Amino acid sequence: MNIRDKYIEFFVSKGHKQIPSAPVVPENDPSVLFNTAGMQPLVPYLMGEPHPYGTRLCDYQKCIRTNDLDEVGDVTHHTFFEMLGNWSLGDYFKKESITWSFELLTKHLNIPVEKLSVTVFKGNDIVPADNESADLWKSLGISENKIAFLGEDDNWWPNMELTGPCGPDTEIFYWRSDEEVPSKFDPENDNWVEIWNNVFMQYNHKPDGTFEPLKKKNVDTGMGLERITAVLEGVNDNYESSIWKGTIKKIEEISGKSYYGNEKAFRIIADHIKAAVFISSDPAGIKPSNTDQGYILRRLIRRAIRYAKMIDIDINSNWESEIAKNIIDEYKKYYSELSTNENVVMEVLKNEKIKFSRTLEKGLREFEKIVKNLNENEINKDLAFKLYDTYGFPIELTLELAKERRLTVDEKGFYEKFKAHQELSRTASAGKFKGGLAGNSLVETKYHTATHLLNAALKLVVNKDVHQKGSNITDERMRFDFSCDHKLTDEEKKAVEDLVNKWIEENLPVTKKEMSKEEAIKSGAECMFIEKYPDIVTVYSIGDVSKELCGGPHVNNTSELGHFKIKKEEASSAGVRRIKAILEEK
Ligand code: ALA
Repeated sequence: MNIRDKYIEFFVSKGHKQIPSAPVVPENDPSVLFNTAGMQPLVPYLMGEPHPYGTRLCDYQKCIRTNDLDEVGDVTHHTFFEMLGNWSLGDYFKKESITWSFELLTKHLNIPVEKLSVTVFKGNDIVPADNESADLWKSLGISENKIAFLGEDDNWWPNMELTGPCGPDTEIFYWRSDEEVPSKFDPENDNWVEIWNNVFMQYNHKPDGTFEPLKKKNVDTGMGLERITAVLEGVNDNYESSIWKGTIKKIEEISGKSYYGNEKAFRIIADHIKAAVFISSDPAGIKPSNTDQGYILRRLIRRAIRYAKMIDIDINSNWESEIAKNIIDEYKKYYSELSTNENVVMEVLKNEKIKFSRTLEKGLREFEKIVKNLNENEINKDLAFKLYDTYGFPIELTLELAKERRLTVDEKGFYEKFKAHQELSRTASAGKFKGGLAGNSLVETKYHTATHLLNAALKLVVNKDVHQKGSNITDERMRFDFSCDHKLTDEEKKAVEDLVNKWIEENLPVTKKEMSKEEAIKSGAECMFIEKYPDIVTVYSIGDVSKELCGGPHVNNTSELGHFKIKKEEASSAGVRRIKAILEEK
């Protein structure tokens, strides 16, 4: 049995319910582009909302981290990875969490105790040193030398800056080397690799900087599946583990080249195509574009293409779909959306490849020309912008090519030009590239509720078949994509605005109810991806004008929203329109 299945079976045997992996694009958290940790979709429940599956949960969650995309190519970094997690929502705490982690590792995954070390929190002005965890580890047989008390940088999750649920943690390390295990743990020794993190989530870090104790004490654990697999299979290069082997072999077949000697290109191609497969198969329907998730998808595919060319793959052949097919076949047992959306994935990859390969050759030649004619060591903003605008080079590609030649790029100048040129600047979303969490601010919460009102108003004014296709909220505006076959007329826009404002004036209460998925559908509740919801769902109602499946958060009453104003209505993609709107002070 593989590690994933063993993990789930173990925690189910300890009374946990397995919950399905949430989509990789967060449905109700506009503060991040992708889920970067197993707990992210669970934030409302960690903050105190009851979870429909109970107080003990476990899962494997699809995650995407893009903040260190440039690091991909070494032995450990991946864009897409899976996180195994188990949670206690106000149920068990340190004792069970630590005991079970130890039991799974030593009894079921057969790791010798000597090969394990742990770290615990040494304390700060919020919580004292975690002697309780240290004593528990000791009682299980971890020697004192293998228990290190470390500070906030190591043993507080996510960190002291980010807002949202957080707390001290205990981390488990494994000795990944054939050398004899030292008798003492040394955090500086890279042979000790972190394999599991158990967070004792006890605080909500508020935007005002205070740490408010949560209503309930939770446990949140995370174990990276790729890492634990590589570690237990005894390989130092994750890409040699059983998780990546099939894909690497496929690339060897396609390219006729060996992995060894071409590791970086192979890893980037395997990693980026895998991430692109998971992003494009997600129910959110992300397509390559120049903003947000679509931009990441575009970068991944284009970078994979460039590296495929470097190992002499004929990029006009079907190489990308062969690799994608291999990935889909390996994972579809765990993620049914891969089968359902296989055609979509293949089309996304192919279309983006066709788009980029038309200009890649010319762009690379242009780049060579630029380099030849440079009088200084910097590629100026005009040249960088030309590569972007005319040849479709994401700025990151230009940066990477420049770095290979020891040149710099006027990145700041590029973004100024880019911003002036693009109404939708991706720099606005740059903050979202960081991993980790950010709580919903009050303003975002208001926009969230306004989104439901807008959805309801569009149905009445335009057509009852209008459905939400996407939504994105920042502190400054809301963006709402919906199915609609025409540009809204000025009259329609005004009528929508007036209706939303009328509902705001009516001081409608926002209420929340849990019910079965069937009941929710029967009651006519609106929802985007019904198949992705658990059997018991939360439905938010606003007076009797709106009813939607949603995880929240929302304001309590529409009177809190201010004045609703549509700033723009435009095409988003075929059959999909996009509205940008704001809430103003009344
Ligand atoms: N949320 C914790 C992590 O991602 C478990 O490390």
